[in-house]
Amino acid sequence: MRIVLLGDIHHYRLMVPPWQLLGKRLLGQANLWLNRRHSFDPSLLNPVIDRIADVAPDLILLSGDLTTTALRTEFADIAEQLAPLTDRFQTVIVPGNHDRYTFSATRSRLMEQMLPGHVPTEWPHHRQLTDRWHLLAINSAVPRIANSRGRIGREQLTGIRRVCSRLTDQDALVVLCHYPVKAPPRSLPLTWDHKLADSRQLRHILTRCPARLLYLHGHIHKPWCWQPKGSNQSHFTYINAGSPCQTSKKHPLGQGFWQIDLPPQAYDTLAVTHHVPSGNRHTKPADHQWITRSLPRTNVSTTGIVRDAAPPG
Ligand SMILES: [Fe+2]
Ligand SMILES: [Fe+2]
Repeated sequence: MRIVLLGDIHHYRLMVPPWQLLGKRLLGQANLWLNRRHSFDPSLLNPVIDRIADVAPDLILLSGDLTTTALRTEFADIAEQLAPLTDRFQTVIVPGNHDRYTFSATRSRLMEQMLPGHVPTEWPHHRQLTDRWHLLAINSAVPRIANSRGRIGREQLTGIRRVCSRLTDQDALVVLCHYPVKAPPRSLPLTWDHKLADSRQLRHILTRCPARLLYLHGHIHKPWCWQPKGSNQSHFTYINAGSPCQTSKKHPLGQGFWQIDLPPQAYDTLAVTHHVPSGNRHTKPADHQWITRSLPRTNVSTTGIVRDAAPPG
């Protein structure tokens, strides 16, 4: 089974009616004008969408932060842009903190309304993917006035524990959650105001899960794939989606997406490929060349470890 993981798109509109700029959204829009728009290039998304269609996945997983300030117009734009994928391929989307930017967007379930059928309405969302592989999608984003901490909550943790208790060491579980629960060695630690408040509880449940774990997340805008060595998490593989529209010296055309081919048996080799566009920032989208970096054996230690983590988004 082939999965594509696509991360923090952070779609935005620069011009927003003033009456929508209340509270935290005003700060978010100011940050967009002053900082974010200089490193996020929305035109990089369409080539990614075309490339994903070529990869022809069985399932697309979006790890959240599709929008910047959870505006109805941002959701409408992104739903339309993703339609060539969501109309054709099974898609599951979890919210990121930017999709739950305001209390009213969360209360009115705006994301669920605007992307119907793709954002689960019950959490955690569990489905069986193959004989051995399961998916567990977690809702970890909550609106906050002054920080970006995520929270899963007791009820969801109970549901996650229940799913894990039914799995055996012959099974494998793909966990999709916006927030990481652990960062790679040598990376910057996850800061208090940007991390998942109950990450310790989630990690505790998952480390006791007998199944192989593939933990897919976003939030830190830097793609990585790594596996803890010599710990009680040696059955984990962590993949951080990265941000397809965020540019930097290392990724002048954005950070691409991941293709993950699940093996039939839980502990067989996982084939992980990172698709990244190459060229410079003047390269036209139609002329993007793609570099694919395959991580040869992700059931052992991988080479995808990053040395420093970018600030969370
Ligand atoms: Fe985020
Ligand atoms: Fe983000």
